[in-house]
Amino acid sequence: MNRRATSAAGACLLLVSCVSRKPAEEPKPMNMNSDLHSYSQPGKVRVRHLDLECDVNFAKKILEGVATLTIEHALDAGAAPLILDTRDLVIDKAEISSGGDFKDAVFHLGPAHEYLGAPLSVEITPATTRVRVHYSTSPNASGLQWLDPAQTAGKSHPFLFTQSQAIHARSWIPLQDSPAVRFTYDARVRTPQALLALMSAENDPKARRSGEFAFHMPLAIPSYLMALAVGDLVFHPVSERAGIYAERPVIDKAAKEFEDTEKMIEAAETLFGPYRWGRYDILVLPPSFPFGGMENPKLTFATPTVIAGDKSLVSLISHELAHSWSGNLVTNATWRDFWLNEGFTTYIELRIQEKLYGKRRASMEAVLGRETLDRNLRDLPEPDQILYVDLAGRDPDEGMTEIPYVKGALFLRTLEENFGRERFDNFIRGYFDHFAFQSITTQQFIDYLKENLLDRNKPIAARIPWQDWIFQPGLPAGAAQPSSDAFEKVRGQARRWFKRELATANLQTAGWTTQEWLHFLLFFDSNQIDAGRMADLDARFHLTESGNAEILAQWLLLATRNGYSAADRKVENFLISVGRRKFLKPLYEELVKTPEGHRRAEAIFAKAKSGYHPISAASVTEILTKELENK
Ligand code: BES
Ligand code: ZN
Repeated sequence: MNRRATSAAGACLLLVSCVSRKPAEEPKPMNMNSDLHSYSQPGKVRVRHLDLECDVNFAKKILEGVATLTIEHALDAGAAPLILDTRDLVIDKAEISSGGDFKDAVFHLGPAHEYLGAPLSVEITPATTRVRVHYSTSPNASGLQWLDPAQTAGKSHPFLFTQSQAIHARSWIPLQDSPAVRFTYDARVRTPQALLALMSAENDPKARRSGEFAFHMPLAIPSYLMALAVGDLVFHPVSERAGIYAERPVIDKAAKEFEDTEKMIEAAETLFGPYRWGRYDILVLPPSFPFGGMENPKLTFATPTVIAGDKSLVSLISHELAHSWSGNLVTNATWRDFWLNEGFTTYIELRIQEKLYGKRRASMEAVLGRETLDRNLRDLPEPDQILYVDLAGRDPDEGMTEIPYVKGALFLRTLEENFGRERFDNFIRGYFDHFAFQSITTQQFIDYLKENLLDRNKPIAARIPWQDWIFQPGLPAGAAQPSSDAFEKVRGQARRWFKRELATANLQTAGWTTQEWLHFLLFFDSNQIDAGRMADLDARFHLTESGNAEILAQWLLLATRNGYSAADRKVENFLISVGRRKFLKPLYEELVKTPEGHRRAEAIFAKAKSGYHPISAASVTEILTKELENK
């Protein structure tokens, strides 16, 4: 075994820490490449490969695992221990090997931090090449959700899924839980006989349910992309290399909704170079999945709430697919650099949408994004409006605002508009090739941007205050301004209806897409509508019965805000049946604004809580208690 960190990523990280090359004009954030959210010290000892064995115990709601880590030592590592991240893990035993048999090793589990968990130090020698940890998870592991049969579509089998991003992988595997550390993995997973296991690895669409599954992931990924799901799942191909996994009651609808997946992959490939991950499958999870989607390599995890029946919400798939380039191939080195993942991805998502569904749709989606950004900018304190956000002392999940997503994408769009599409597309393609399978910092991006775009086109570059984009709050002057003619018309009608110049019966909504409906409803975000007129809208458009989760969520928010009590039952049902945090947060936040609403929110949460993922439950708890403190 080679004792030096030889890969490009490893060498690069070691280099950056000792070479100072920041130009004078930029603010100087300290330690641009040290990860505040991991106890591990990959500059000394680095995990290169993981062999995972794990038993999925539904009765106890725990995973019983053995993780064998292949490590490499830096030349100057001395007698450094291997430090792993853990959270609520029970460690039974640690062993080390220098090529031969494993021997018991001395290990120490440090004190548990609220969200960072506890560092596990294992004593190793300079000759140690492998470290083995025997452990089990806690039933409350933050990265796992255990579902009872009643919480699934099929109602007869339990379900388990993981959500590792940002720092929850450590709650189900002891590892160096930093996005700067990439490793390959093999896994052996034992499950109840009736169920299928899937991972962010090579999945065989023809796998038999034998109670034991073997996985191989030959491409190096960071820990936040470790993923596992176990349930009564079936597979439906959509092309040679793409397909859908879902529970049987959902599979046909899901396969229809996502039938354009192959076209999306092809669109992305013509824009940004080959898809390098082999298969691209989508796993549709039960509705408690706390996010819209998660870009687990080879196997995107998705909420069922994007299945609208008309493909109107599939930009989520464009987004998760885009992460196969921005995020999974070129990865943020720390959570401060998260905008590199999500800003690029949101930009590319829109490019894929444009290629597949045309400019009209992509423009509408861009404007909707911009509207959510503007709302977010009004609420966020200035430091949190910065792309290179300071997360010191904070859970990285708190960095999940519209800033890295939409401001990040707007920055790239502004570059595109100034430099021209052809030059910019070449730049991005070069960026993905240059940094493929590496984890990079914002500083590395800046250096690459200067060398390959700005310095080559100085008169254009002079127009773009890129330092402000990355290091200042708000939006710099000259930001791209997406617009949509279709939305102009919608807004005109909304305004006239609001001023009572247009009767409800005369609203011209025939042919409106989901995006137009959303734009219409969002117009009333800052305008009060009385309950009677809410009833008029509902009588004509049946919004309380909408089968489109985005439209429904926005409508229920308006209903709650405007005291339209005919929708109260639906609000409760929605909050109990859906666990997607993006929908829960605004509704609970709206409810707690009045004492009566606060009581309702508490009562709903009491019923819903056991079905929520730990991440969503924590967010709702925070909303309910913060409001109490204010009173
Ligand atoms: N990678 C994110 C999800 C994520 C980010 C999970 C940070 C945990 C911490 C994923 O790609 C994402 O952005 N999902 C969005 C949907 C997207 C269409 C904007 C979501 O879940 O809302
Ligand atoms: Zn994303």
